[in-house]
Amino acid sequence: MCLTIPARVVSVSGNLADVLENGTEKSIDTSLIKGLKAGDWILHTTGLAIKKVSPKDAREIIELLESSRKINNSSLSSEFKDILQAARIRDLTREEVCYLLKTENPEEINALHSEANTIRKAYLKEFICVHGIIEFSNICARDCCYCGIRSENDARRYRMTVSEVVNTVLKAAEKGYKLLVLQSGEDSYYSDDLLEEIVREIKRRSRVFIFLSVGERGYESYKRLRKTGASGVLLRFETSNPELFKKLHPEGKYLDNRLSHLRFLKELGYFIATGFMVGLPGQTMEDLAADILTLKSLNPGMASIGPFIPSPDTPLSGEEGGTVDMTLRVMAVLRVLMKSVRIPVTTAMETAGGIEIRKEGLMAGGNALMFNLTPPRYRRLYQIYPHKFYQRDRRWEKYALFQGKESYRMLEERLRP
Ligand code: 5AD
Repeated sequence: MCLTIPARVVSVSGNLADVLENGTEKSIDTSLIKGLKAGDWILHTTGLAIKKVSPKDAREIIELLESSRKINNSSLSSEFKDILQAARIRDLTREEVCYLLKTENPEEINALHSEANTIRKAYLKEFICVHGIIEFSNICARDCCYCGIRSENDARRYRMTVSEVVNTVLKAAEKGYKLLVLQSGEDSYYSDDLLEEIVREIKRRSRVFIFLSVGERGYESYKRLRKTGASGVLLRFETSNPELFKKLHPEGKYLDNRLSHLRFLKELGYFIATGFMVGLPGQTMEDLAADILTLKSLNPGMASIGPFIPSPDTPLSGEEGGTVDMTLRVMAVLRVLMKSVRIPVTTAMETAGGIEIRKEGLMAGGNALMFNLTPPRYRRLYQIYPHKFYQRDRRWEKYALFQGKESYRMLEERLRP
């Protein structure tokens, strides 16, 4: 489902209305809404009014979506201005990305966020999409040092059955969700046959896009699942530094394998969502800059990043976590470099920054939210990090504009690899 900024009707003439959105006047086709008059508020897309909203709702949506940042140009260094200017026409170098990550000038940080927000609006318009994630098993063969459900951990484990997964998806689809991520640990209990059964059953009974987030399963497995109807894969490379990757993944799978998955997944026609963690122990600013450039070079449809959050009972439990400010800044740099990539405000971000971080994330170049739809009885067991954030914030679900087939069609176009 998607949310868009409301416009106020200035005048109506037949099936056309002049509306004011964000201070700009536009002409909109209103044939879908009867009895519209000056002063009413509407939600619209591509020149078509879709839905009327009350002034109170309009105010709330505007509050959710509007930025209040003011930029003071006089305190920006010429180096900073040159970098932002350059990013409009060419790729940035690692040094330039590092400058954006390292500057401590609050006006420059402000201006970076604002540039990201402007680019998001210019390239993706005022659409904020709300996706869902369902965590269907916390059993994992891997031992990633950062993760609370690593195999060595003494966590209580669960697996959802095929019908539990399918029913959870169908319930979400009824609410209007159109894109759902099915995530689990690397759990070989879910054979290709079983995952195919899940995807096939979902595709037969609803119109939703299924993204798989099930780890490194190899080419043949993903080929089959693509044929069965899975649309996307969420698989982060976590860090682009091979040494750091090796340290964090002691079970001996390497960064190369992860990156080769991302490449062949793209060849198979999947929509790719990938990214990394911010603030991993041992990660330098230069590493982060390289992560950003690696992400760009993979040219994914979605860039998914979040702060590292130390998880109890892991080798990294005593380390410091990544900060919300740095993660916001990385999101903004990503938006400046990758103008139309989807960037969700991730759960780790919400866990570290609370509910208000949603808006800040959207104002720093983010354009999507990811709500946790795992059934409540399993939810608290999927503790990849502690105190995981679950609030859905019903306002988004209430206001989301495209809950029906328009949303499916829009996504279909946007998800084309
Ligand atoms: N802190 C933040 N993110 C984590 N992930 C796993 N453990 C942590 C943690 N402790 C992220 C990884 C993984 C995704 C499913 O969750 O990036 O790809």
